[in-house]
Amino acid sequence: DKENHYAFVVLGAAGDLAKKKTFPSLFQLHMGRLLPGNMHIIGVDNPQFHKDVTNVTDFWDQRLREHLEKQKGWVNEDLESFKERLHYVQVQLDQPDTVVALDRHLRSLAEDRPKEHRVFYLALPPFLFAKAVENLRERCWSQSGWNRVIVEKPFGKNGTQAAELTDSLKKYLDEKEIFRMDHYLAKTLVLNLLTLRFANRELGHLFHCHHVANVRITFKEAIGVEGRAGYFDGYGIIRDIMQNHLMQVLTLVAMEAPATLEAEDVRDEKVKVLKQIRPIAPRDCVIGQYEGYQLDPDIQAINRKRGYPSRSPTFAVAVMYLDNERWSGVPFIMKAGKGLEVHQTIVRIQFKKAPPNSLFGEQPQNELVIRIQPNEAIYYKILAKMPGLTQQARDVEQTVLDLDLKKRFELRRTPEAYEKLIHDVIQGESHNFVRKDELEQAWRIFDPLLTTLEEEEKRVPETYSLGSRGPLKADMLIDRMGFRRYTVT
Ligand code: BG6
Repeated sequence: DKENHYAFVVLGAAGDLAKKKTFPSLFQLHMGRLLPGNMHIIGVDNPQFHKDVTNVTDFWDQRLREHLEKQKGWVNEDLESFKERLHYVQVQLDQPDTVVALDRHLRSLAEDRPKEHRVFYLALPPFLFAKAVENLRERCWSQSGWNRVIVEKPFGKNGTQAAELTDSLKKYLDEKEIFRMDHYLAKTLVLNLLTLRFANRELGHLFHCHHVANVRITFKEAIGVEGRAGYFDGYGIIRDIMQNHLMQVLTLVAMEAPATLEAEDVRDEKVKVLKQIRPIAPRDCVIGQYEGYQLDPDIQAINRKRGYPSRSPTFAVAVMYLDNERWSGVPFIMKAGKGLEVHQTIVRIQFKKAPPNSLFGEQPQNELVIRIQPNEAIYYKILAKMPGLTQQARDVEQTVLDLDLKKRFELRRTPEAYEKLIHDVIQGESHNFVRKDELEQAWRIFDPLLTTLEEEEKRVPETYSLGSRGPLKADMLIDRMGFRRYTVT
């Protein structure tokens, strides 16, 4: 589209998210020639918070350069041509004339092209979403082209707050103008889940309680809250990772085949399966906190104000059940933690054991594993006869059918999830964004648990040492259910 003008407006441009994720992703898309040629990128910021940034040169030198230079594969020309797209405008949402000035700026960039398309990326704290959207809608809305708004979690702390946020956005925007981002949806192997299950029709049949003993969805980070304690402490790991990222993964593992591959059909099917998930019972959850969390200076400041030590979990295991025929009786065991022994996100489908009197006797359980990160891979642990002259049919060992994506497709780099999502928004592609009913359902599943943990019992998290597997009680919960632990492979 060479005729029209595109503006990609990043609000909160001098903040953390923008400099670490949004701009580097835009830069990668720019290098990959995936941005419209006639698109400007406008960093917008409140001068109150970033006094050191007053113009585009400051913004570039102090905020962006370092992060863009860290990206792979650029030459000087790329940086220079990216810089040409870039503008910087200061806006204060409580001063409407500054928003009007932003609109004027965008119009002048568009010159007299027939249509102006605008993306507004709200890299802002959520309490500013409604105010930002109201201002933009009234004072900075393109009249000739489309307008799209990107928002990211946290969408409230519970279902009620999320619904309030949805309502306040609905006053100004159509659902199709809102792109709720969950970057896990754009990870290469999360995108592959539908293909794995429904393009490989025979394999898809294995995803059924006839065959599956349990499904494990595990997120482990080796680092702690590093610099984000102020945000994290108010939310905890259940809200930070489970209720959104891991629920999206679970949904794609568990849903039925959609009627078509269109965005609305896929999301309809996701909502259907979400509705079949029982709220998590507090007895099916163990929470933990790594030793040393309380020593973080930000946490200490919060503790002093609050008068007692933080009870925010940095680790949780929760077991979920689905009330439908396909997954009847199959536990979905979700685990998420920071400060653990490894950095890894993995889906592990453990199949049922053969009974001891079966043809090959007792053998280890087979597993289908989807390693979302790092080193994206899908592998299937199956039994094979040991090779060799003297080996009998019974000499069976578990072995691995392995699809390593980097090797197979000779990937130079796996694109950041944010790149795909930003590209999707510009294309108006909404498959990989969260619809409001998905959000409602995900909160329904977690709200009662969070209420019990936080309001009634004030449950104190189990401590675990940094770099461990997490608290012992979590393993005990899983063992109690009769399932095999696994060590990292
Ligand atoms: C974010 C969480 O949404 O996801 C962080 O707020 C977490 O706490 C991050 O570290 C993990 O994302 P990724 O892509 O690094 O696995």
